[in-house]
Amino acid sequence: MKLLAGNSNRPLAEAIAAYLNAELTRATVHRFADMEVFVEIHENVRGEDVFIIQSTSFPANDNLMELLVCIDALRRASAKRITAVVPYFGYARQDRKSGSRTPISAKLVSNLITQAGAHRVLTLELHAGQIQGFFDIPVDNLYSTPLLAPDIAREMGTEDLMVVSPDVGGVTRARGLAKRLNAPLAIIDKRRERAGVSEVMHVIGDVRGRRCVLVDDIVDSGGTLCHAADALLEAGAVSVQAYVTHAVLSSGAVGKITASSLDKLVVTDSIRPTESVRVSHKLGVLTVAQLIGEAIHRISEETSVSSLFD
Ligand code: R5P
Repeated sequence: MKLLAGNSNRPLAEAIAAYLNAELTRATVHRFADMEVFVEIHENVRGEDVFIIQSTSFPANDNLMELLVCIDALRRASAKRITAVVPYFGYARQDRKSGSRTPISAKLVSNLITQAGAHRVLTLELHAGQIQGFFDIPVDNLYSTPLLAPDIAREMGTEDLMVVSPDVGGVTRARGLAKRLNAPLAIIDKRRERAGVSEVMHVIGDVRGRRCVLVDDIVDSGGTLCHAADALLEAGAVSVQAYVTHAVLSSGAVGKITASSLDKLVVTDSIRPTESVRVSHKLGVLTVAQLIGEAIHRISEETSVSSLFD
């Protein structure tokens, strides 16, 4: 087995390699002056089972291009099997036509990865499970529940706990976590009654006296979580924390979360945490290195990946 790392999240790739007791394959991934990507692999990979680790996070297009160019280099170097390990699969939110004459970019990205030469994909907490069907190659979509649930139980306890989905789209994910924690589930229904009127948050479920934990796949601007926290407190919750897998945290988001009514936000390192995330007293980071490392081990040994979630 060979592990190759792109530039998007080198610390995570190193931690995965450490879990697997392996070295990262020597390679250089760099840029020409006009920002074209150039990849050179300095070890023989002929006939090898190769895993290329690269999140397509900010800068999304550069990181995606790096992934594609690495796959192409591996294919031309006669790797036997290439697995694109994409802890954060960018473009996933563009998974349907959101209006007339708009793209389905998640499908386009799936086509690009397949056409570049990947034989399989390993990813984490896809925005929508159906994206697996955009690929005609095997896709293993890992869930972060086995990582988040024990941390929630340890940090918050389970008494008076209520798991909350911040939108209707995230109910399946929140239900899975609630089941594991043996806690009830509430849902926030965001609605814009009329165009131009701000969104109203309806809390479905009785959160009075509850310590709420919001669970989501992505935190981007932070707006969803901050508004949800306010709505829950208004509805009688005693406190609100949030657990989110992918910390996109675009500009201004960390400040917004720090100033919000959320007690704490815990994210994972599927996207490399920025300095502001690392120093914030309101943010915590869990590593997905063992989870992804174990899935890589099982794929390479051709044993069950789904049993990781039993
Ligand atoms: C949306 O469907 C996703 O699951 C997240 O809720 C959303 O991407 C969060 O975005 P933001 O932090 O900008 O509100």
